[in-house]
This record gives sequence, C-alpha cells and structure tokens, in this order.
Amino acid sequence: MSKLSEKYVQAVWEFTEALQDEKQIESGLSKCMEILQETIGCEAGTVWMYDTDSNRLAIIACGTGQDVTGVTIEKGQGVVGHVMDTAESMMVHNTIGDDSPLYGSDDAVGLIIKNQLVSPLKVPGGEAFGCIQLVNKKEGRFVEEDAMLCGNMAALIALDIEDKGYKVELPKNRKPMIVLRDVIKEFPSGDSVIRVLKGINLDIYEGEFLVILGESGCGKTTMMNIIGGMDSMTDGSLLLDGKDFSHPSDSELTQFRRNYIGFIFQSYNLMPNLSALENLQFIAEISQDPIPPEKALALVGLSDRAGNFPSQMSGGQQQRVSIARALTKNPRLILADEPTAALDYATSIEVLSIVENIVKNEGKTVVMITHNPEIAKMANRVVKLRGGLISNIRINAKPLSAKELVW
Ligand SMILES: Nc1ncnc2c1ncn2[C@@H]1O[C@H](COP(=O)(O)OP(=O)(O)OP(=O)(O)O)[C@@H](O)[C@H]1O
Ligand SMILES: [Mg+2]
Repeated sequence: MSKLSEKYVQAVWEFTEALQDEKQIESGLSKCMEILQETIGCEAGTVWMYDTDSNRLAIIACGTGQDVTGVTIEKGQGVVGHVMDTAESMMVHNTIGDDSPLYGSDDAVGLIIKNQLVSPLKVPGGEAFGCIQLVNKKEGRFVEEDAMLCGNMAALIALDIEDKGYKVELPKNRKPMIVLRDVIKEFPSGDSVIRVLKGINLDIYEGEFLVILGESGCGKTTMMNIIGGMDSMTDGSLLLDGKDFSHPSDSELTQFRRNYIGFIFQSYNLMPNLSALENLQFIAEISQDPIPPEKALALVGLSDRAGNFPSQMSGGQQQRVSIARALTKNPRLILADEPTAALDYATSIEVLSIVENIVKNEGKTVVMITHNPEIAKMANRVVKLRGGLISNIRINAKPLSAKELVW
C-alpha cells in the first residue's frame, strides 16, 4: 500500500480529533467534511445516510458553500446510490457529456457534478449505511491517494456512527421561507472596500430552528441584518416565499420588518419608562396582526411582572420581556443575535428554554446567532460561518433540549 503524504496524514489526525467527544455526531461529521474538502481541494463534500423506512439517502452534513442539507435521493439512484448498493468506493473522472443513467440524478444535489469520489460508510463485515461524497476536484483529477484518504475517513466515521448510534431523520417536506443566493456584502473602508460576506447560499425553512455559529468578526450579524431587512446586500439575491426580495422598496422593507420579523438582541433595548406590559402594548399597537401582550408575557413566564419597569427586573427577566416583545408582533421569523451573551449559565438556560418553546409549541421559525458550540446542539440545523463564507452545515438528528446543555 502506498503511503499517504504528510498533508493527508495531518488530515487523518484532524478527523480523529473532530470526531472525539461529541455527543452529537453531526458536529464532528460536518467538521470532517470541511477538512476533507479543503485537503483534497473540492467544491463540495457531503455525508449521506440511508433511511431504511423510506429507502432513501439523505444528506445530513456537508462542508460546502452550498446548502444541500435538504437533499434526498432514492437508494440505487446515481453514483451515491450505486456505492450504497455495492459498498465499494467509486471514482468518476468526467461526468460531463456522459449520459450514463448513473450520473443523471446527481443534479438532485443542486450542483453540476463534473467529477466525484464516493466512499461507503460501513464497518468491517457490515453493510453500507451511507457514504461520503466529494464533488468537483478543483485542480487535476482525483488520484488514488484521494481515494485512500476518503476511504480512511469513511471507515473512521462509520465506526463512530456504529459506536454512538444514529437514526436518520429525513428532512420533512419543507418550504424555504427565505433563500439567500450568492449574497455578497461589502463595506467601504477608506478608499477601498472590505468584503465581509463573500457569497452566502442558504435556505431557511419554515418552522426550523437554525443556529449560526462562528468566530467574532466572521459576518454573522451582517448576514442576519440582511435576512432581517436591516441592511442591504452588495450583490446576490434574496427570495421571500419564492418571490424576489433582493431590492425591496422602502415601504416594502418597513412592512417586512414590522410584520414578518421579530428581533431579539444581546442587549434588551426595553423602554425604561414603560412597564413590561406597556413595552409590549406599544409594539402591539403598531403591528398588523399582534397577539395579546398578556399572552406574550405568559409565554415567557412573566405574567406576574407585568407592572415592573425594566430597572426592577434582572437581566434574564428583561431578556424574556424582549422575547415577549418579539412574539407580540406575531412574526413568522424570529432573529436572535447572541440573546444569552450577557447572561450567566442558569439564566441562559432559562432564556434558551423559552426559545425552544417558541419553535416547538408556537411553530415559529428561529434563526439564532451564537459563539457557543454547545448552544448549537439545540438547533435543527447548524450553519458554520468562517471568513464570510459558510464553511459547513449540518442537520442535528436529535436536537438537545436547552436543559441538557452544559458549558
Ligand atoms: N457598518 C460596517 N462598516 C464597516 N465594517 C463593518 C460594518 N459592519 C460590520 N463590519 C465588519 O464586518 C465584519 C463582520 O462583522 P459582523 O458584525 O457581521 O461579525 P460577527 O460575526 O457578528 O462578529 P461578533 O461575533 O463579534 O458579533 C467585521 O470585520 C466588521 O468590522
Ligand atoms: Mg455579531
């Protein structure tokens, strides 16, 4: 057997590290795909898992600039399906112009696939239960060494999955409310500009809890401001319920912000001279379809504090009022930017439990920014931003409840 080059050996170490002590396997998987994609130099890397009930394969994690986490295919379809059937790796050098039925259905991924490398997920002696797929090597062809690295990683992942157990949750028939395509944001900086978002592709689905994770300065707030109509993009497009909303008029924007979106920030921004209830009543008056402010206060467990002014409440209570304020508008989408950053652990858990309740019981869609990878375990999907690009996305098959989080 030929030896792996140093760069590839390094990658194997990084996989092992990424897969270590993660309660939620998907976090390690998405990180691994990011490493693999970068090491081999491909456009996309995805992890597919087989669901016996539906006889379909679903993408559960990817390290890619494209959001392909909603994609599923039938077993037996395409190269991925073929690898599942044969449990053997497959390297395809040129699909373009080849009308083999094996390649036709790859379009499901939403990428034009020119070449690919697919390795089955299986433990020795077992059947394949998924595969990892690398798409579009940027320079040159896939070589034997790439296949070895991919195969090694598939074996590591397979052992990890077997060890920790995994039940695929097929993405439900979901409708994207907001679609971002190739979104670029630049800010002027002296004589030139700095490009903060470098081409964001993301679908936000109705009813999901999406967490955006990433280091300080990577562009999380900038992206959220564009989603929430607080800032405009330099280039790219945004679809709202399937319609182009890339360049809304001022009045469309005002309507959108007022009725469609609820904001929760790190700072509570409550009006100091109004009581908790009055802070909500004020919002109810200017909203199109509000819920009763009393009900919103009850949802955050603060009915008994209706008459309190912000200065008479703790930070956690003020944050709960600000969540109630966002709920009062009865928005479809709630955007939360580090809502627990200023709170201690116990109070953070209280606030996160309320956010959890908003998604599970009130049916709201929530997009929440955090620095804290532990908090990301609550989400249905986690989007990791790095340097203005999405570096990986994963689906949490089993989101943790706020009360299970520890940090
Ligand atoms: N209005 C602006 N003008 C110029 N540069 C900006 C502006 N807003 C943001 N930036 C720059 O864009 C980059 C990303 O900022 P952003 O606030 O989106 O980061 P973030 O991921 O939310 O960080 P943090 O976790 O610290 O909140 C930073 O380098 C920031 O300085
Ligand atoms: Mg920020």
